[in-house]
Amino acid sequence: MEYTALGRTGIKVSVAGLGCGGPSRLGMRNDPQSANHAVALIKQAIDLGVNFLDTAQNYGTEAVVGKAIAGVPRDRLVLSTKKTLPGEDHADAEGEVAKGLEQSLKLMGTDYVDVYHLHGVEPKDEEFARNRLMPAMRRLKEQGKIRFIGVTEGFVVDSRHKVLQDGLTEDLWDVVMVGFSLLNPSARKTVFPLTQAKGTGVLNMFAVRRALSQPERLKEMCAELVANGKIGKGALDAEDPLGFLLKDTDATTIPEAAYRFCRHEPGNHVVLFGTGNPDHLKENVAAILKPPLPPAALARLESIFGKLDHLTGN
Ligand SMILES: NC(=O)c1ccc[n+]([C@@H]2O[C@H](COP(=O)([O-])OP(=O)(O)OC[C@H]3O[C@@H](n4cnc5c(N)ncnc54)[C@H](OP(=O)(O)O)[C@@H]3O)[C@@H](O)[C@H]2O)c1
Repeated sequence: MEYTALGRTGIKVSVAGLGCGGPSRLGMRNDPQSANHAVALIKQAIDLGVNFLDTAQNYGTEAVVGKAIAGVPRDRLVLSTKKTLPGEDHADAEGEVAKGLEQSLKLMGTDYVDVYHLHGVEPKDEEFARNRLMPAMRRLKEQGKIRFIGVTEGFVVDSRHKVLQDGLTEDLWDVVMVGFSLLNPSARKTVFPLTQAKGTGVLNMFAVRRALSQPERLKEMCAELVANGKIGKGALDAEDPLGFLLKDTDATTIPEAAYRFCRHEPGNHVVLFGTGNPDHLKENVAAILKPPLPPAALARLESIFGKLDHLTGN
């Protein structure tokens, strides 16, 4: 495994981080009874050197994280979890943040979280998050229950990163989680320059999702892009849109190419991968440790997707 500093937090993090949410939720989304399988996946990741584990109040995977890490020295792990936003009309939104953290700590069997995020902040939540929830987050940090404050963007509705751009300008957070992939590299221009200037820690979500793991979905998505005039007709082979990545580089699968694309983006610290499959887990860690894709392949990707900022890859 390779490790890096999570920006100015200075925390030493593995460049590959296990995402315990996403479409797979460690396999528990389709089979909520598969807790033992999920525990084994987390242990497999830790054995491969992954020290960064990302979960959330609403994933239902905090308890399996707790089970998997029991017995691992706490300072060898970096735990990241998230508070689901309470409604603006909640009688005690501030108290709800503290209550959520207590519940997360209990489920994970620990007395502090390394990075505690506000989960999926959308443009409509910005004022509420800044004025009501952030003071509660800062109190938890002062109390030593969280080491650093993070935010995850609501990428599906905010694929152009408005919330991150606004908050980074004000330097609101220690760590941000951003949607970034070869299909939507817009954060390169609008988010990474700000995080690099401020020293903010960066976690990368949406590296693969559906479009880059399911060939039929990719074909369908590219056909829509051509039909809508977002990409030129001749830019891609309609039957095998990203086939050139496997022909012209040493990547053996599209998910591998997609994770490598993200891993080597300057300013990116941890590439999160989500899976319920132990073979995929092994492949993904290996992919994230491989060298960058060759410049010609990167240039071709840039010419096709470089100007797009609306895709999520779902
Ligand atoms: N707003 C937020 O806070 C937010 C939103 C999204 C994600 N996240 C975090 O980011 C993490 C990463 O996102 P993600 O889970 O969507 O991860 P991802 O790595 O972008 O995509 C995961 C999807 O790709 C598939 N996949 C993974 N590796 C594969 C491989 N080698 N071959 C084929 N298919 C593969 C998985 O299915 P299999 O199970 O079959 O492998 C799963 O459906 C999440 O787990 C979560 O912790 C946060």
